Amino acid sequence: MPVPGRANILVVDDDRRNREALQELLQDPGQNLVLADSGEQALRYVLKDDFAVILLDARMPGVDGFETARLIRERPRSRNTPIIFLTAAYEDLPSVFRGYEVGAVDYIVKPLIPEVLKSKISVFVELYEKNAVLTREIAERRLAEQQLRESEENLRALTARLQSAVEEERTRIAREIHDELGQALTGIKMDLAWVTDRLPKQPRTLVTKMKSVFRLIDGTIQSVRRIATGLRPEVLDEAGLAAAVGWQARDFQKRTGIRCRLELPADGIALDRERSTATFRIFQEILTNVARHANATKIDIALQLDGNALTLKVEDNGKGIANTVVDRSQSLGLLGMRERASLFGGKIDIAGTPGQGTRVVVSIPQARK
Ligand SMILES: Nc1ncnc2c1ncn2[C@@H]1O[C@H](COP(=O)(O)OP(=O)(O)OP(=O)(O)O)[C@@H](O)[C@H]1O
Ligand SMILES: [Mg+2]
Repeated sequence: MPVPGRANILVVDDDRRNREALQELLQDPGQNLVLADSGEQALRYVLKDDFAVILLDARMPGVDGFETARLIRERPRSRNTPIIFLTAAYEDLPSVFRGYEVGAVDYIVKPLIPEVLKSKISVFVELYEKNAVLTREIAERRLAEQQLRESEENLRALTARLQSAVEEERTRIAREIHDELGQALTGIKMDLAWVTDRLPKQPRTLVTKMKSVFRLIDGTIQSVRRIATGLRPEVLDEAGLAAAVGWQARDFQKRTGIRCRLELPADGIALDRERSTATFRIFQEILTNVARHANATKIDIALQLDGNALTLKVEDNGKGIANTVVDRSQSLGLLGMRERASLFGGKIDIAGTPGQGTRVVVSIPQARK
């Protein structure tokens, strides 16, 4: 019977003395010998177990060696198991060829020379063991790869969750700041106006003080608006991505002096909130990078929905991003942009031409309806 962990060798011979002689010869603690006295029995064994090599007597009553070999080759489990034919010396050349045709890897002519047989067998046993090690390693690697893939997917899902949580939180805070602080400040301003109306016109210092308080309140109202918009611009939720991109570009131009030329779809872009947010945040990062790194004077921005994908092209006329940076950037800006796009199966192409500028193309597939 086969022993786990050891290489099995199957000996098939109808002659009991031959079997015993082979058993004697191939006794080895490292390998396990299985004896079959017919082709039928051999076939039953190869169905159940793997063998390092099969020694097969060519001439047997019933199913002969050639037929047995053919059937062994037909079974998936033993398709590649090496078969050595044992033949009598008088075997003619045609039947040797026949043996090779049905899948023999070698021939040994009786009477056996023990050393020859042993060394041939040991080659196959060694091959079998190496193969087993390789198979195990492949299985381990597959498992590791799968685990890596799964953990990558988990991380990606986590990133998505985190980003949407951050976005929701920003939206909520922006709204609260805008509504509550904004309204409170407006209320204070109205009350102060009421008081001012009833104040005596003398002394002048009182009136001057009041004016400065009004300026302070107006400044604070502006700050509140700016902070709330910085967290999440209302225009994105109210007028959509195209309007938000336009607004952001004009604001950017005002702040930096870098001229922005816009090409936006006239009737806006209907896109879900997640994709709009991702594209908008990517756009903001692109603009920030231009302001920080490009030394540009002009930006061309084009947003369009062609076919089923949203495309945002941003091209500056600055110094041009280095290709080495594009390919191997570990900095969070580019990484975050790519990650955001890939959450929707999208991608970002960045290309720089030294001295001429940088072109960033963001493509994000639409959600399937
Ligand atoms: N428009 C651009 N023109 C020239 N170089 C650029 C441009 N955009 C990015 N780069 C280069 O690519 C690098 C990586 O950009 P990335 O946004 O990832 O990082 P960062 O802006 O330096 O830092 P942060 O993580 O805060 O965004 C930048 O440091 C800069 O050298
Ligand atoms: Mg950056």
